[in-house]
Amino acid sequence: MEDKLRALQTEALEKIESVQNLKELNDIRVAYLGKKGPVTEILKGMGKLSAEERPKMGALANEVRGSIKEKIESKQEKLEREAVQKKLESETIDVTLPGRPVRKGSHHPLTKMVEEIEDLFIGMGYTIAEGPEVEKDYYNFEALNLPKGHPARDMQDSFYITEDILLRTHTSPVQARTMEGKNGKGPIKIICPGKVYRRDTDDATHSHQFTQIEGLVVDENIRMSDLKGTLQVFAKKMFGEDREIRLRPSFFPFTEPSVEMDISCKMCGGKGCNVCKKTGWIEILGAGMVHPNVLEMAGYDSKKYTGFAFGMGPERIAMLKYGIDDIRHFYTNDVRFLTQFGIQE
Ligand code: DAH
Repeated sequence: MEDKLRALQTEALEKIESVQNLKELNDIRVAYLGKKGPVTEILKGMGKLSAEERPKMGALANEVRGSIKEKIESKQEKLEREAVQKKLESETIDVTLPGRPVRKGSHHPLTKMVEEIEDLFIGMGYTIAEGPEVEKDYYNFEALNLPKGHPARDMQDSFYITEDILLRTHTSPVQARTMEGKNGKGPIKIICPGKVYRRDTDDATHSHQFTQIEGLVVDENIRMSDLKGTLQVFAKKMFGEDREIRLRPSFFPFTEPSVEMDISCKMCGGKGCNVCKKTGWIEILGAGMVHPNVLEMAGYDSKKYTGFAFGMGPERIAMLKYGIDDIRHFYTNDVRFLTQFGIQE
């Protein structure tokens, strides 16, 4: 029995020594130390031993068990330590490697343009008004002196949602809404930036969705010269102090008289070149004196109050200011284009 126990001990200790991983080690633990293991099996023969030998064998069995257990524990500790070491080695970070650059975003060039124009008018005492992009036909057209069937509606091909609701074709409905909200009393001095929609085929100068900034001033004694002075300040601040403006007669149903404002061409200094189509002037925006019908429909007494209004396209202004040749650049968001306006790689 003693020989058997010793042989078992040697066998177990050798096996433990050569074990490669924790799973194998656990299998050995179960096999040798479990209730149905070989040590228990050998001890079953104790009954045949003399009273003298029995305690000796018992002590020996305990010693064998103990040594196997101890060896398993130390092996387990060793394997665990090795596993941690391996993991640490595989996860080491080379702190001398160059880092990955973080790409920094910035405002979209169009947002910047709108904010620049807003700031300019805020500096002249204007406040910002906003209105819905899904608009009633009434505010988009009727309240602006464009009744149903008016031929001037053709100037703005529209996306209709129902017969009475459309995607606004311009920011002018915010004029009508603001005036109506004042119940015919008191002065107004607002600009209204926002998105507008037209059923146009996209090309270098057209986009089915673009932005506009509307301006409206209403008070007693507002005159055409106030409009002209305001536009002059705007043009010089936006395009340079050496720019001249001119007002050309035009037509908008919501203003009377109506004008279009041109600025002198920067490229040729007014002599005429390809940019200004040889005219020396570049068209910037539409404007005029608020039509009495528009004032009256919104509840203002047109004998007492007068006003001026203007509407411009920030895309067009940015295109002229920065020499951008295609309006679609603002909407396709090619990073090579955007980075030119302050987005860092
Ligand atoms: N709403 C016009 C358009 O989209 C632009 C415009 C012209 C606005 C004259 C005005 C204005 O307020 O007075 O073409």
